[in-house]
Amino acid sequence: MNKITVIGAGNVGATTANVIAQKDLAREVVLLDIKEGLAEGKALDIWQTSSIIHFNTRVTGVTNDYLKTKGSGVVVITSGLPRKPGMSRDDLIKTNATIVKDVTERVVKYSPDAIIIVVSNPLDVMTYAAFLAANKAPNKVFGMAGILDTGRYKAFIADALNVSPEDIHAMLLGGHGDTMVPLPRYTSINGIPVTELLGPAVIEKIVDRTRKGGGELVRLMGTSAWYAPGSAVAQMVEAIVDDQKRIFPVCAMLKGEYGLKDIYLGVPVKLGKDGVEEIIEISLNQDEKKLLKTSSDSVQTVMKVLEDLKLF
Ligand code: NAI
Ligand code: 2OP
Repeated sequence: MNKITVIGAGNVGATTANVIAQKDLAREVVLLDIKEGLAEGKALDIWQTSSIIHFNTRVTGVTNDYLKTKGSGVVVITSGLPRKPGMSRDDLIKTNATIVKDVTERVVKYSPDAIIIVVSNPLDVMTYAAFLAANKAPNKVFGMAGILDTGRYKAFIADALNVSPEDIHAMLLGGHGDTMVPLPRYTSINGIPVTELLGPAVIEKIVDRTRKGGGELVRLMGTSAWYAPGSAVAQMVEAIVDDQKRIFPVCAMLKGEYGLKDIYLGVPVKLGKDGVEEIIEISLNQDEKKLLKTSSDSVQTVMKVLEDLKLF
């Protein structure tokens, strides 16, 4: 790919640009921020690792200059406030909705064909806001959360079993909040169901820790995570750039799948050069359906707040 843009050169944006460059996914990565000099500085720092880590992707930084993002194939939106201790992701909506709307409109002006990946929180509703602002097909506007959340879930399972996290395969549904739905029935260790290797009490503990995994890090660091989020975004970008047709949990627009309509929510999708190329509907038991409903209800509540802001 010729050009990838990352909006927001904070913790997540800079990490995303760094991993994309290290994977050599494009000729150029443009990092953009409103803080004078921040994106330029971080981009220069990343570029100066190129001869040490061995990559060719040119990383450049700009202060709010969208002309430099012109013709991007993929744009990642990370601009906005992160959580502080005691805050939920939903507390961020007023500030971040305005930022995401403004940024998306500018992005689309210069890169009308770009695939947009949203990271800003509250993720499911910010993805919806970007969809409204972008005015493009929903397969081209989606959000990152599920790869991060399953990454946490897999790390906890790997620890509990003392096995490689690489051998753990898992799926997760729902919103990026404490009501997310990790699915032990769809979790295996290279094909061996997790339920064969761990008892229900341990699995329940892991599921609960996963749901609150973002908050655990906010409590430890005073702000939210960036290494795993940045790597998760880069994995999505790689699937798109290399047309890998990978199956990931992604925040995608539902049009009746899982009995839900006109809502962005985490579901398994096929990710390739056209973005979300397919939404995969897996069968759920009564308990899983109930949990998904609780999660989608919680996202609907935040969508109502967005609606009341009357930005669109
Ligand atoms: P950060 O504060 O380190 O970086 C945010 C950057 O956005 C700042 O540098 C700021 O100057 C910039 N920014 C603000 N308004 C802007 C605008 N209008 N145009 C361009 N840049 C602008 O925050 P961090 O940790 O990078 O988090 C970014 C967002 O991502 C937060 O909303 C956070 O909650 C969310 N997040 C979402 C995750 C997910 O799984 N979806 C995971 C981790 C963070
Ligand atoms: C996370 O889960 C804050 O959404 C961010 O780390």
